[in-house]
Amino acid sequence: CKFSVKVPATSANIGVGFDTFGVSLNLFNTFIFKKSETFMEDNLVIDSYKKTFKYLDEDIIPISVKIKSQVPYTRGLGSSSTCIVAGVYSALFMMNKTINKELALDIATEIEGHPDNVAPAIMGSFVISLKHNEHIHYRRFELNKNLEFLALIPNFSLSTKDSRNILPKMISLKDGVHNVSRAALLTPALVNLDKNLIKVCLDDRFHQPYRKRLIKDFDLLKEKSLEFDAIATYLSGAGPTIMVLSEKNSKTYAMLKDYINNNLKNWDVKKLNID
Ligand code: HSE
Repeated sequence: CKFSVKVPATSANIGVGFDTFGVSLNLFNTFIFKKSETFMEDNLVIDSYKKTFKYLDEDIIPISVKIKSQVPYTRGLGSSSTCIVAGVYSALFMMNKTINKELALDIATEIEGHPDNVAPAIMGSFVISLKHNEHIHYRRFELNKNLEFLALIPNFSLSTKDSRNILPKMISLKDGVHNVSRAALLTPALVNLDKNLIKVCLDDRFHQPYRKRLIKDFDLLKEKSLEFDAIATYLSGAGPTIMVLSEKNSKTYAMLKDYINNNLKNWDVKKLNID
């Protein structure tokens, strides 16, 4: 028995939607599974596979996995989520369960701890999600087709754990109101490609002011992107990738590529679309 599971990269938070918003992007990890006598590997895919059997109280069937990877690892583009989702889907398949996306989302979130990467990885497009009584409630939106995602990816990594540890435990009421109002208006702004509103809404106060200290060139790349006509920027997931939102056919990508090639050798830029 041999089968494969293909899972997209994701970009979580979208600035103000910490642990809540995420998009899936057209960059994929493919996992090739084969039934085996014993477990040959010990990695996040296999761990998630085993946890899915435990979650559903079923006897574990050994399997092996090979990964064909396109999603950069530990860069804030959901590579861990691709492994978790592949582990959950392969387990459901091996148990002969009908693939139920809502169940897969509940299990994958239980493993990952927050739903903002696994939800768009499973549902596709732009997804807003929350956990309530052990279940994930979500809504999926189609974003404006003229919106383009330019991922500025550095050659260094950041672990989600370290990037979460530097966050404050408490947020002021003022910053809470700041983020909740912007998060509420961000969805219509992205759907309608309301550029001015997107700019206003991406001003986060929950995590980016703390995390950007870990990313040399964060402010410089934001400033350059805006100078090159980008709509706005945000830190993708826990970083260190910086996501630049631009309008399709604008000059932003070419100008950023040129600037990075000539000035910042440890950064790369990738043009992505919503999957
Ligand atoms: N919402 C998560 C965070 C995404 O910002 O830490 C990274 O897994």
